[in-house]
Amino acid sequence: MSEEPVVEGQEEKQKVFPDEYWQYDREGAYRTIKAMPDHIRAGYRLGEGVRPARSFSRVVVAGMGGSGIAGDLLKELVDYDNDTKVVVETAKGYDAPKTVDGDTLLIAVSYSGNTEETLSTYKTAARKGCQVLLVSSGGKLEELAKVNRHQHLKLPKDLQPRMAVAYLFFPLLRVLENAGVVKSYAQEVDELAAALRRQDVSAKAAELSGKCYGKTPLIYADQSFYPVAYRWKTQFNENAKTTSFCHAFSEMNHNELLSFENRAGAYHAFFLSTDKEHRRVAKRIALAKDVLQQKGVSVTEINIKGPLLKQVFTTIYLGDLTSFFLALRYGTDPTPVELIERFKRDLGPFLI
Ligand code: F6R
Repeated sequence: MSEEPVVEGQEEKQKVFPDEYWQYDREGAYRTIKAMPDHIRAGYRLGEGVRPARSFSRVVVAGMGGSGIAGDLLKELVDYDNDTKVVVETAKGYDAPKTVDGDTLLIAVSYSGNTEETLSTYKTAARKGCQVLLVSSGGKLEELAKVNRHQHLKLPKDLQPRMAVAYLFFPLLRVLENAGVVKSYAQEVDELAAALRRQDVSAKAAELSGKCYGKTPLIYADQSFYPVAYRWKTQFNENAKTTSFCHAFSEMNHNELLSFENRAGAYHAFFLSTDKEHRRVAKRIALAKDVLQQKGVSVTEINIKGPLLKQVFTTIYLGDLTSFFLALRYGTDPTPVELIERFKRDLGPFLI
C-alpha cells in the first residue's frame, strides 16, 4: 500500500499545541515519533529475508533500555498467542540466562551496537552453542557478527534508540514468523500502520500531557500489558526528563494501593486497560481507579480496542506523544539523553 509520508506543517502543529513550545523540539522528535507508521512497515520488511538455520524452542532477547523493550513486547505477544511453539525470555544483565542451550535462539538487540551488557550477554550465550541473531545499526555488534560469522540485521542509522522502537521490534516478530513459530502478522501489521496514520492522536496526547504536568505520572496495567506501562514510564523519564513509575495488576492491589494517604496530589495515574485482562483484573482496575480518585489522585483511563498488536502499538504511540508534549511544557528538548551518555562514558571501557 503506498501512502504519502506524514508531514506536519507549522499551522497544523499550532492547532495541537501553543506556538511558543515548539522551539524546544530542537532535534525534530515530533516528526520522528509521528513517523511510527512508516517505521512499522519498514521494520517488518527488514526481517523478511532473515531465517534461522535450524529449529529452536526458546528465544532469549538480550537488550537494554530503548532496545530492550523490543524483547519485552515480543514476549508479551508470544505469551498471549495460544498456538505459539516457543517460549520467549528477556535478558537485561551481563550474563546469559542459565536456560540458554543449543535449542535457543539468542537475539542480541542494541540500536548503537555498543551496549556492554548486551555485548556481554551475547558473548556468554554464544559459548553455549545457541543460534545467534545480532540486531544493530552498526557498532561492535556488527563487527562481531562479521568476525564470528553470526547473522546480523542492520537497522537504519541516526535515530535515538527509543524512537526506533518499531524498527527494533517488527523485524524480530518477522523472524519468528519466518521460523514458523508464530502466526503471520502481515495483515495486522498493515492494518496497524494504516490505523496509526488515520488517527490523529496528537491533540489527545497534548491534553494528557496537561493532566500530568507538574505531577509524577504513574502508569498501571495488567501484568500481561506491563511492557506497555513500562514503555510509558521510560518515555516520561527519557523524553520529559521527569520521574515516573509503573506497577502491574493485580500485584499493585497488595501494596501500592495504600500509598496515597499522603501527597496524593503529587501524582497523575494512567490506567492502561485492554479487553483481554482476566475479568477479576478488569474489576480490580475499576475499583483501584475509584480508590485513587477518592484519595485525591487525578486519574485517566486509556482503553484501546482491537487485536493485541494494535492495542500495544497504539497505546505506545499515544504515550510517546504524551511524554513528548510534557517535555515541551517543561521547556525540555525531548531528544537528547546527555546524562545517559555521560554515565556510559564515566563507566570507562569494558573488556569482554
Ligand atoms: C536512548 C535510549 C536508551 C538506550 C540504552 C541502550 O534513546 O533509549 O535507553 O536504548 O542506553 O542503548 P542501545 O539501545 O544503543 O543498546
